[in-house]
Amino acid sequence: MDQTQKYSNSNKERYLNELLELLKIPSVSADPSYKKDVIQCAETLAEGLRKIGIQNVEVCETAGNPIVYGEKIVDATKPTVLVYGHYDVQPADPLELWSSPAFEPVIKSTEKHPQGAIFARGACDDKGQMFMHVKAVESMLAVNELPCNVKFMIEGEEEVGSENLAIFVKEEKERLKADIILVSDTGMLANDVPSITTGLRGLSYVEVEVTGPNRDLHSGLYGGCVANPINVLAEMIASLHDSNGKITIPGFYDKVVELTDKERAEMARAPFSHVAYCKALNIAETMGESGYSTMERGSIRPTLDVNGIWGGYTGEGAKTVIASKAFAKISMRLVPDQDPEEVTNLFKTHFESIAPNSVKVIVKPHHGGEAAVTPIDSVGYLAASMAYEKAFGKKPIPVRSGGSIPIIAMFEKELGLKTILMGFGLDSDAIHSPNEHFGLFNFYKGIETIPYFYYYFTELTK
Ligand code: BES
Ligand code: MN
Ligand code: MN
Repeated sequence: MDQTQKYSNSNKERYLNELLELLKIPSVSADPSYKKDVIQCAETLAEGLRKIGIQNVEVCETAGNPIVYGEKIVDATKPTVLVYGHYDVQPADPLELWSSPAFEPVIKSTEKHPQGAIFARGACDDKGQMFMHVKAVESMLAVNELPCNVKFMIEGEEEVGSENLAIFVKEEKERLKADIILVSDTGMLANDVPSITTGLRGLSYVEVEVTGPNRDLHSGLYGGCVANPINVLAEMIASLHDSNGKITIPGFYDKVVELTDKERAEMARAPFSHVAYCKALNIAETMGESGYSTMERGSIRPTLDVNGIWGGYTGEGAKTVIASKAFAKISMRLVPDQDPEEVTNLFKTHFESIAPNSVKVIVKPHHGGEAAVTPIDSVGYLAASMAYEKAFGKKPIPVRSGGSIPIIAMFEKELGLKTILMGFGLDSDAIHSPNEHFGLFNFYKGIETIPYFYYYFTELTK
């Protein structure tokens, strides 16, 4: 891969500039008013694939946002790597908290990224990481070092649940035939502590509505006499955890796979500083399920969190009112072998059962997905591990992540393929938040590491 690395190096400015162009397109999938930008982003990406010599490039229409597909078959007897990523991004708001506009990428250095980081929505999640794959393949193709076949499948709806990709995958099994799926849409421990993500949590997401009286009421005339839906909702939500931080929904933990002591001991070897963790978040103490470390709470244990709560008067000044309705959005992060639909149903049954007679409750399920785990003794993992060792000079640590990419479990079910999660972002890169960024070191290190994966995977599959 020497020529490949040389080519990447002498084209690094252009690679970066091309990424910056992609980041200028506000491909927000959650908001339909960005539809044009989403399509433009898909087309730009497709054009970029054609330019580097990818064949059969197609912007595949779906009922929602298009999927960009392309392939390069060098030799049918060689293995095939299927690259998955997403070009859609989260909404940029709250806009006022960005130090520079979300879709006008700039390079600034930070404590974690002294060599500079690209600040823009999607820089890390996932345009920057997805684009590393395009450029790594460009470099290999340019110098004739691509050792196996490659297929690209880049979607535009990851941030809104990948519903149409799920349909595409079911319909296109033949076209998507491969030996392994390769994804960079997660993180690593630190720039000098390479790691490979070996697990993702699943997700169950619900919205609840609590209705009390049929109209908003004067809180002096009616306060203390009727159920206040906001008070009731707050109490119901508070009761979803006990004093040990356990979730109180009956049956919630029934299918949770517990790790063995050996696996937990293995996990505990990853470096973690409680002090640095608290300091970075400006909190005095962590909290969570008792009996588990912070790292475990955030990866191998299921959780329940309110993501948003509203109702009543939230404007300027004071208005004395008892609202008719209160709402909340609640996410549950799941672990193997919890079933998202089942958990949603358990939540619904429980939440309805704890509602006092004085209110009515509606539970609306949103999108969800299953957890996924990657075995560390597979050829794919081994190839990835060797690639990191070659690029970083250090063996990577396997780490289970707390985030979710629901489509990964679906790939396994529908295509029978395992996924290797080669993430290059840092937890501090502020994905989904204002000032999202991606280190230049990380971007270039990704472009360097990926070709080695192709090389070792092809060698090990022989
Ligand atoms: N790339 C993230 C998931 C992620 C980030 C996993 C960092 C591990 C480390 C992905 O784009 C994402 O944001 N997923 C959502 C779920 C989706 C259904 C909206 C999530 O985890 O909240
Ligand atoms: Mn992502
Ligand atoms: Mn995301």
